[in-house]
Amino acid sequence: MKNTLQQFKQDILRQLEEVADISLLQELEKKYLGRKGELTLLLKEIGNLPATERKETGKLANEIRAEIKQKLIEIKSAFAKAPADKQFFDATLPGKKIEAGHLHPLTLVQRELEKIFSSMGFMILEGPELESDYYNFEALNIPKTHPARDMQDTFYIEGHADLVMRTQTSNMQVRAMEKYGAPLRCAVIGATYRHEATDMSHEHSFCQIENLVVDKGISLANLVGILKTMFSGLYRQEVNVRLRPGYFPFVEPGLEAEMSCIFCGGKGCSVCKKTGWLEMGGAGLVHPNVLKYGGVDPKKYQGLAFGFGIERMAMLKYGINDIRLFRGGDLHFLTQFSS
Ligand code: PHE
Repeated sequence: MKNTLQQFKQDILRQLEEVADISLLQELEKKYLGRKGELTLLLKEIGNLPATERKETGKLANEIRAEIKQKLIEIKSAFAKAPADKQFFDATLPGKKIEAGHLHPLTLVQRELEKIFSSMGFMILEGPELESDYYNFEALNIPKTHPARDMQDTFYIEGHADLVMRTQTSNMQVRAMEKYGAPLRCAVIGATYRHEATDMSHEHSFCQIENLVVDKGISLANLVGILKTMFSGLYRQEVNVRLRPGYFPFVEPGLEAEMSCIFCGGKGCSVCKKTGWLEMGGAGLVHPNVLKYGGVDPKKYQGLAFGFGIERMAMLKYGINDIRLFRGGDLHFLTQFSS
């Protein structure tokens, strides 16, 4: 009997050693240790042995059974660990970066401008990008046949002779006066469109900010003050403003507004082409005809207005040399503005 037991033990252990997967292991367990397993049946026979042999054989049988059970537990836990061991995990590697969105550089500048002008009591308006010929041109003192229309290459809408993609945020001047009357202080920020051949400084779609103030006793001194506050706030440095004659049919006098160069402080450098000044956009005192279109009496009220490209402002602020980058969708460019 003892020999049979030893033989069994060796057989079983050898088979366990070779077992390749968990289901085979379960089969072996059932075959030997199950209720009707071979080892179980053998152990039952011990009871039939003569008393002299029974004690010793019983002891040996229990030892063998315990040994086999222990081996089974070991192999099972080795199987349980196996998959994790195969999947190498390096706890020293850096984690996966979670990409977060961020604001577009134009939005950053737009928000700064909104803050600056809200603090000066301006309403922030948007207005329609698909606009009537009336508000985009006629009400701005630019009749259908006026040569000033050539200054702004316009997208007209097929089949809708009186609709255009707005070429300027000035379209909101008369709309704002009609809606809010005088006195009035508003800043219009939004997209504008022109039929331009694109290059480093021209785009067919771009953004403008337009400011309109209508009140009593408005003069160019107010205009200069507002421009200085805007530029100094945006570029975080004290700048000077220079006005030169310019032509826009909806302002009289019409002006080109310039800012002292923020790179050389006005001494002259390559950015300002040695002039010390940077051209920023159009400005002027609102033409009496435009006030009339807006339902405002030009004998009682005067107005000032100016309009600038936000791209140009952003290009100077961030040192961007090509306007096409703003809408190019290139992440190498855009992700530089995540903070
Ligand atoms: N709307 C003009 C342009 O786009 C700029 C401007 C605005 C000029 C207001 C004068 C007054 O060129």
